[in-house]
Amino acid sequence: MGGENGGLEMSGTAQKHVVLGVTGGIAAYKACDLASKLTQRGVQVHVIMTEHAARFVCPATFRELTGQPVVVDMFAENPGLPIAHIALARMADLLLIAPATANVIGKMAAGIADDALTTTALAVEAPVLLAPAMNTKMWEKPVVQENLAKLRQRGVLIVGPAEGVLACGEVGAGRLAPVEEILAAALHLLGLEEGAARKAGTGTAGTASVPPAAGDASLAGWRVLVTAGPTQEPLDPVRFLSNRSSGKMGYAIAAAASARGAQVTLVSGPVALQPPVGVEVVAVQTAQEMADAVAQRLDSCDVFVAAAAVADFRPATVQPEKIKKQEGTETLELRLVRTPDILAMAGERRRQRGGQGGPILVGFAAETGSRNLIELARDKLQRKGVDLVVANDVTAAGSGFGTDTNQVHLVWAGGQVESWPLLRKDEVARRLWNRLSQFRQGRS
Ligand code: CTP
Repeated sequence: MGGENGGLEMSGTAQKHVVLGVTGGIAAYKACDLASKLTQRGVQVHVIMTEHAARFVCPATFRELTGQPVVVDMFAENPGLPIAHIALARMADLLLIAPATANVIGKMAAGIADDALTTTALAVEAPVLLAPAMNTKMWEKPVVQENLAKLRQRGVLIVGPAEGVLACGEVGAGRLAPVEEILAAALHLLGLEEGAARKAGTGTAGTASVPPAAGDASLAGWRVLVTAGPTQEPLDPVRFLSNRSSGKMGYAIAAAASARGAQVTLVSGPVALQPPVGVEVVAVQTAQEMADAVAQRLDSCDVFVAAAAVADFRPATVQPEKIKKQEGTETLELRLVRTPDILAMAGERRRQRGGQGGPILVGFAAETGSRNLIELARDKLQRKGVDLVVANDVTAAGSGFGTDTNQVHLVWAGGQVESWPLLRKDEVARRLWNRLSQFRQGRS
């Protein structure tokens, strides 16, 4: 990656080169900030603009910010870059396209190369990171989502978009992800330290927001479904029942799979974490919503990891108005009913198929008190009909809810038990994918 410099001067062997593709949307102005911040971090930024982007922002702005020539027209004289798209593709350690319009996403998905940016995108071998930005209606169009899914499958990483008020006045998904978030993802993919990205003010929470540096495609072609976080079961318009799950373990698992080239969907309850780069996040609130989202996707995945702390019970009725205190009454009785057991539903589907086919099923068992941990996990494994239960004692020091570390035991359907030391959750996730790779090889 980035081994040849295509005739340009490199200042220092360790210097990283980012080709920043800027396409024609109003968010193009935010790419100036991104180019500036990357340059300040010592990255050499080579900007390629589409002609439409050059109508939003003047190429001279990027030239001044980066100190590098800016390519717009591939047939124009580009000093120092005789065949600009090949030279830039060769030197790139990362191709970052921000903002990426629906148009460029469509062209890349179709393999169209009709300008300097799309020809570079077709020639590049470095990781590709897209930060889409467009109108909500465009973002939601099936064709755009299909194109993104195609690109994801080919290993392209996607950051954002965010939700909010768009330039067109509409509210919804389609805003360019915050510049700090794109910067953090880019620096991480470049192997520049994560701490620095955080210092730059990413505001990302936990250990799971950015995947390990790309380059390992050992899970390419895998379709992975993960649940994470708690669920919230409404009681009335302002109250809900929930639990202490932070979602960190599930997010780390999703991020680690995505970083190895898997196509990952993360069905997430409400958490305060950034979506991992390249992962499709389906946000849900209740156990029923999580069950519906999983049921729709279960038959088209290769591995299902149920890391969510799903509420086992929900209030039997949701009051339409806020529950008021009653004069003279000191207690309130709630009637709770069972929620669907999502993992057991996945196991049941397999049972109905005679135990054949379908995804590898992985559950988590969060217990309090280590005494019967393995026995309880074994019981859960059999009851739910899964291949592996990852068990931990959430009351042990360094393990469980909200922590960045975890000490887990792997209890396999075959009877083996593996106990790992206390590890960072992202390391648990990395090792888990190593083990699941071996397991899948053994199964096929
Ligand atoms: N799980 C699920 N749907 C539920 C409850 C749990 O998918 N409604 C999954 C969790 O994501 C986890 C595993 O099942 O992977 C274990 O969850 P846990 O709540 O510990 O198990 P239970 O079967 O509810 O056992 P117990 O109540 O005895 O702890």
